[in-house]
Amino acid sequence: RIFDSLKLGSVFIAREIAAQIRQKQAEGKHCVLGLATGSSPKTIYAELVRLHREEGLSFANVITFNLDEYFPIDNDALQSYNRYMREQLFNHVDIDPVNIHIPNGEWPKDAIKKFCAEYDNLIEQAGGIDVQILGIGNNGHIGFNEPGSSRFSRTRLITLDNSTRIANAYEFTNISQVPRLAVTMGIDTIMKARKIYLMAWGPMKAPVIQKAVEEHVTEQIPASILQQHNDTVFVLDQMAAAEL
Ligand code: GLP
Repeated sequence: RIFDSLKLGSVFIAREIAAQIRQKQAEGKHCVLGLATGSSPKTIYAELVRLHREEGLSFANVITFNLDEYFPIDNDALQSYNRYMREQLFNHVDIDPVNIHIPNGEWPKDAIKKFCAEYDNLIEQAGGIDVQILGIGNNGHIGFNEPGSSRFSRTRLITLDNSTRIANAYEFTNISQVPRLAVTMGIDTIMKARKIYLMAWGPMKAPVIQKAVEEHVTEQIPASILQQHNDTVFVLDQMAAAEL
């Protein structure tokens, strides 16, 4: 789906999420959302907060699982995705804090495998992800699944590519402050979501969107693996779609 602006594309995704939340509410069920961070989804969260405040959208039945987090990082650090989620969404809606799950930058490193396996188990116990939203890195990463990530990967500790550390350096005081590691849901974890929206805005994303959508499926462009998912929509603005 190609929209004239980031705003229109974001409102489209927010309304799709709201419709899913309301449908599950009507059925007396939980709605399980997979959430992303970075600059791309901010307008989606702003629209969800608006729908909560002005149109009574309740998050009481919503369970969330975030894609990723730097490692290690304090939950209150300015760059932490934990803090980002509280500031962009959770502090402004009626979600029950017990229903919020985010890979934790404070997990002890020697027990990280156990915590990652538990994270995947929690997603399964919640019934799997109903709607997953994704951004995309310039190198094709989804979550922090860097090029070369296996189609069968699950939640795990990963070494960030230098290109990712450079792309994200603006969030930190300088490149040396950017963590070298992150915890990310795996590609397999993401591919199990029933519905996926990948968003990309602006001309910088145009080359990688062309590769992900039109070229062969390859683990070198993790987002291209979404071609094998049966309910994924790429939501783009005109500029991100320019090379299609
Ligand atoms: C970050 C995040 C991803 C995000 C991507 C794009 O490193 N780990 O989840 O989708 O890179 O970020 P942005 O939306 O700021 O372009």
